Amino acid sequence: MPNAGSGITDALVSALRRARSVAVLTGSGVSAESGVPTFRDAQTGLWARYEPQELATPEAFERDPGLVWEWYEWRRDLVRAAKPNPGHRALTELERRVPSFSLATQNVDGLHRRAGSESVLELHGNIMRSKCSVEGMEAEPREGDESVPPLCPGCGGFLRPDVVWFGEALPEDAFAAASGAARGCDVFLSAGTSSLVYPAASLPYEAARSGALLVEINPDDTPLTQHADHALRGRAGEVLPALVAALGEA
Ligand code: OAD
Repeated sequence: MPNAGSGITDALVSALRRARSVAVLTGSGVSAESGVPTFRDAQTGLWARYEPQELATPEAFERDPGLVWEWYEWRRDLVRAAKPNPGHRALTELERRVPSFSLATQNVDGLHRRAGSESVLELHGNIMRSKCSVEGMEAEPREGDESVPPLCPGCGGFLRPDVVWFGEALPEDAFAAASGAARGCDVFLSAGTSSLVYPAASLPYEAARSGALLVEINPDDTPLTQHADHALRGRAGEVLPALVAALGEA
């Protein structure tokens, strides 16, 4: 048995070896071992310290744009200091080995791309990018703009982080591509997500309905666990490398 501890079975390894197409959905648990806080982990999660509604909504930004901008600057500093971990790198390796691969992430930290993953679909945006809160297009502050938040060089409106806030729609192209990949894959991996936030959380079910083998990687149970064909218990930074290693030489 390749890695009984986490539940990696011969059946799973051979299914992954045979797979022509693999689709992945990741959440903040995959970045936890890089020092980026998750959202809902008690005490450590961001939402343990702040009510999401207080900071991650258009209404919160309307109410106090400076507070929201500074909170995201604090999170940007955490992301700048973070490095991809073995979990991110294992997904880059899996991408190299599977003919068709798609990596949809709810994470806004950009760590999958920094690990070298190419087919990344950012479902909730990217915290390191900014956009105009009035015109909606990507924009960066003018050199020397000290205002908080900084202003759009085009219209002078406030800039905001280019992330999806509660109540906002996901980027259509990214979500459509992720849904297509889920419907067409042989194996669907859901790693490091609480499977609570929709529509991203609907992707594993879409894959299962299309006949894909559903694999969950999480130290804890989630609403998805009972639907998974393989629920691998453990941290993504340990289980994902073990799973890819179990595939043997490329
Ligand atoms: P959550 O904080 O809701 O869930 C993190 C999950 O990762 C939990 O199920 C943990 O058990 C698991 N976990 C913790 N450490 C792990 C590790 N080392 N390896 C693997 N799993 C681990 O974060 P998300 O599911 O990403 O949305 O949250 C989804 C969305 O809710 C976020 O993208 C954000 C948030 O509100 C928006 O802001 C729109």
